[in-house]
Amino acid sequence: MSSYRVAYLPGDGIGPEVSAAARRCIDAAGERFGFGVAWDERPVGGQAIDEHGSALPQATLDACLAADAVLLGAVGGPRWDDPRAAVRPEQALLGLRAGLQLFANLRPVHAYPQLAAASPLRAEVRDGTDLLIVRELTGGLYFGRPQHWNGDEAVDTLRYTRPEVERVVRLAFELAAGRRAHLTSVDKANVLASSRLWRDVVDALRPEFPSVTVEHALVDSTALALVRGPAHFDVIVTENLFGDILSDEAAAISGSLGLMTSASLGDRVTEHGRFGMYEPVHGSAPDIAGRGIANPLAAIGTAALMLRWSLGEPAAADALEVAFEAALELRTPDLGGSATTAQVEESVRRSIGSRVAA
Ligand code: NAD
Ligand code: IPM
Ligand code: MN
Repeated sequence: MSSYRVAYLPGDGIGPEVSAAARRCIDAAGERFGFGVAWDERPVGGQAIDEHGSALPQATLDACLAADAVLLGAVGGPRWDDPRAAVRPEQALLGLRAGLQLFANLRPVHAYPQLAAASPLRAEVRDGTDLLIVRELTGGLYFGRPQHWNGDEAVDTLRYTRPEVERVVRLAFELAAGRRAHLTSVDKANVLASSRLWRDVVDALRPEFPSVTVEHALVDSTALALVRGPAHFDVIVTENLFGDILSDEAAAISGSLGLMTSASLGDRVTEHGRFGMYEPVHGSAPDIAGRGIANPLAAIGTAALMLRWSLGEPAAADALEVAFEAALELRTPDLGGSATTAQVEESVRRSIGSRVAA
């Protein structure tokens, strides 16, 4: 029986609620498909600040480096929100992304027909949408230096190098070639030098992918196009902050942030697949934490991505995705219903076909 080692970082707020559900769904898939997961649980974010004084203790990073994949819940919350604090939960995400060299963040967006009423978009606008946002994850404003805030002046730096852009754009081309072969590169080239470099890299790579049609688009008009006609898009590739913003916006297409999954990948491969970190797009949702009503489907769908990309278990990933869709019948409050986290998890585990614990 295959056995995988997964670093399990539940984090803060609803993080532990939804990632525990995802973890049990993976265990259920393991029972059905004949694999096991050794979960290596570690503190991260606010919890790690409270326990260790650092959002990303070295032991947590080391455990991630030693694993086949990382499953993360969410970090952050009002308790650690002082803007002047030197130590912040969100530093853990940046430390993990950089420390694990995860330069590409894949954020798929689906318009499930059965959720038409949950989306603010009219059915005929969202129908047929199936797009993938490829967000650059280890560069741009999040990492550029200098970065400081001194009294009345603050500085952030938007810096990219050609190799940094090339590796993420190349992956986006490869993914587009395996889908509907349409790539939209999103930038702000009318203003930003880094965006003009970005465009140059995209154009330089085009001849290598003759089957892929490419369009360049500005981020402001893309923000509008995403809600006016999302079905137009196949793969969108963009820099770190633009991808962060556009992917939360895209949650309106599916109907809830509680459905949005993500996979963060780099170049490293293990004996099972491509090493990656898996975290839902949403955060720790302090407004609903501790009430048992968070939608666990983003975390569960994210776990399916982990089975597919990092653990080499495509049949289990398929089963989890089928179970995800079936569970859309139950609605947590973010989708307008009154189902609980536990009920959705139970529905998923039941459709995976495994024993459901009482
Ligand atoms: P958020 O994503 O936590 O919440 C935004 C809204 O969506 C809230 O109304 C929340 O209740 C709802 N929501 C999110 N996930 C949901 C789910 N699974 N089920 C039902 N409803 C859900 O964003 P925020 O409120 O801006 O940020 C809260 C904290 O989370 C901040 O500290 C932020 O830095 C952090 N954050 C962390 C991550 C991460 O760990 N990957 C991502 C985003 C934000
Ligand atoms: C995300 C989050 C993070 C980001 C924050 C919490 C650092 O919004 O994963 O989308 O901006 O990348
Ligand atoms: Mn975000």
